[in-house]
Amino acid sequence: MIQISSFLIGVGLISCTASERAVQKDIVVEAKMNLVSQGRVTYQTNCIACHNMNPAKDGSLGPAIKNSSLELITARVLKAEYPPKYNPKRNSKLMQPMPQLENKLHALYEFLNSPN
Ligand code: HEC
Repeated sequence: MIQISSFLIGVGLISCTASERAVQKDIVVEAKMNLVSQGRVTYQTNCIACHNMNPAKDGSLGPAIKNSSLELITARVLKAEYPPKYNPKRNSKLMQPMPQLENKLHALYEFLNSPN
């Protein structure tokens, strides 16, 4: 993430023409797509034991989690908690924290908030 952002800032500083801006936009779109596919792999590897392969549907144990906020994903994945005042979909406490996924939170967010 840090690498991508500093790369984008670098691109922003050196480019100025319209075509260069178009290229810049492509890079942003591509970076986002990479995050979505990273997030998909992370999700399929770590979440579908309980959540549905299709995050818009309920899974064997976990509820549908499509369009979850970054705040919710962060609280759940790092600590198995909820953001303040969040009304959980389930009252169970089955999900375990997975702090080793800290650097995948943005990717999970982009995947869970992508159209497919
Ligand atoms: C061991 C099964 C299991 C795994 C693995 C798991 N979850 Fe969960 N998850 C649940 C269950 C069950 C709930 C409902 C609350 C509870 O029981 O902890 C839940 C709740 C959630 C919620 C909150 C839903 C809401 O709006 O109330 C989010 C977000 C979530 N999980 C994301 C994830 C992500 C992302 C992963 C993978 C990195 C993951 N979970 C892995 C079982 C799991």
